[in-house]
Amino acid sequence: MPSPRPKEKARPFSERLTINQERLLADLNAISRIGIGDRGSVTRLVFSVTELRSRQLLVHLMTQAGLKVQVDRIGNIFGRLEGGSGPAVLAGSHLDSVVHGGKFDGPVGVIGALEAVRTLKEADVALPCPVEAVCFVGEESSRFGFSTLGSSLVAGQVKMKDLTNAVDARGTKLEDVLAGLGVYRDSLPALKRDPKSIKAYLELHIEQGPVLEAKKKKIGVVTAIAAPTRLRVVFTGQADHSGTTPMEMRKDALAAAAHLIAYVEVIARANSAMEKGRVVGTVGAIKIDPGVINAIPGKAELSIDIRSISGKAKERVARAVEARAREIATAREMKVDILPIRSEEPVDLDEGLIHVIEEICQEKKIAYEVMPSGAGHDAMQIAKIAPAGMIFVPSKKGISHSPLEWTDPEEICLGAQILLETILRVAHEAR
Ligand code: GLV
Ligand code: MN
Ligand code: MN
Repeated sequence: MPSPRPKEKARPFSERLTINQERLLADLNAISRIGIGDRGSVTRLVFSVTELRSRQLLVHLMTQAGLKVQVDRIGNIFGRLEGGSGPAVLAGSHLDSVVHGGKFDGPVGVIGALEAVRTLKEADVALPCPVEAVCFVGEESSRFGFSTLGSSLVAGQVKMKDLTNAVDARGTKLEDVLAGLGVYRDSLPALKRDPKSIKAYLELHIEQGPVLEAKKKKIGVVTAIAAPTRLRVVFTGQADHSGTTPMEMRKDALAAAAHLIAYVEVIARANSAMEKGRVVGTVGAIKIDPGVINAIPGKAELSIDIRSISGKAKERVARAVEARAREIATAREMKVDILPIRSEEPVDLDEGLIHVIEEICQEKKIAYEVMPSGAGHDAMQIAKIAPAGMIFVPSKKGISHSPLEWTDPEEICLGAQILLETILRVAHEAR
């Protein structure tokens, strides 16, 4: 049995308050076993049975820790530790994953936040305001092409029209899944949380890029988050016999799509040279019909993800991709449908929170880097209704969305410790 910690009432935000590293790592490990597959990969797609089980485990852990647990209609989880008065400091992330992803993207922030709040509860710290550990549903876009679903609803950022083109690989519409949960067009506003109830939102996350490791820094202090514009482009040609149809008489939808895929890379590369307007473009999924060796593809559907920290640069590239898709279709006399999924604005994170995190790193003599995030996060939605800040920990070789995703346990623990100290300082700040 660990010895009980001294009461912290006399020193409300003491740096001596430390997280329980063993417990943090054990819970992270338990979560990572849910949906584990080949080569240690993790698959917990939003609203799948495995994703649901990970959320159930979290509810169990929060309840065990003595937090007041609330689950909203879509499945966002809030584990609250009461304290003082006024709006709460929230900290969290997500538990859903991509297909064959890693163990750390999301869970580090959820379990890190849980550990920070548990530590505060155990130490019986006199909190000036409530503190909540949070898990948002459906941060990843892997199933429906729609990212940060839960946090977008909490921030009041989802319009029903945004959901129209969100369909999974089996043809299930996100709109229908939401209806199954009792979330209809007119119930969307009810999922929004009162901004006045949030003092700040903090998210601990793996970097998912190579900068911290390359610069030998332990912590990233995030300044801004790049946002995606996502499209589905469907070329419709004519399915036909691959042996009998002469080359000049074909309407091959996949050949048309191939030209667009190559263009996405060219145009994103051309724009990636600009420091401020750096743009990345990816065709991450393709569906072909009929998709057999002896038939000309009659239909090819591309999922395109364009991102930048500059809204203007991103939109410029997105418009160029759309124009090229139309050109290709016209030249080949086939139909093209361009279905927008969602276009978002990049966000700046709160300067005051950036300063607090930097200050903590300086005091603790931790090597840190002030940097933007190329990946999307729930923080980019909550930033629209409350001050939001993010803490990054290094990713080995910068790899993420892969079973090779890795962060050393000491680095995860350091990140969770910084999160705890940031929560305490922010809770005590007059804001
Ligand atoms: C989330 O990881 C994203 O940026 O796709
Ligand atoms: Mn991710
Ligand atoms: Mn993530």
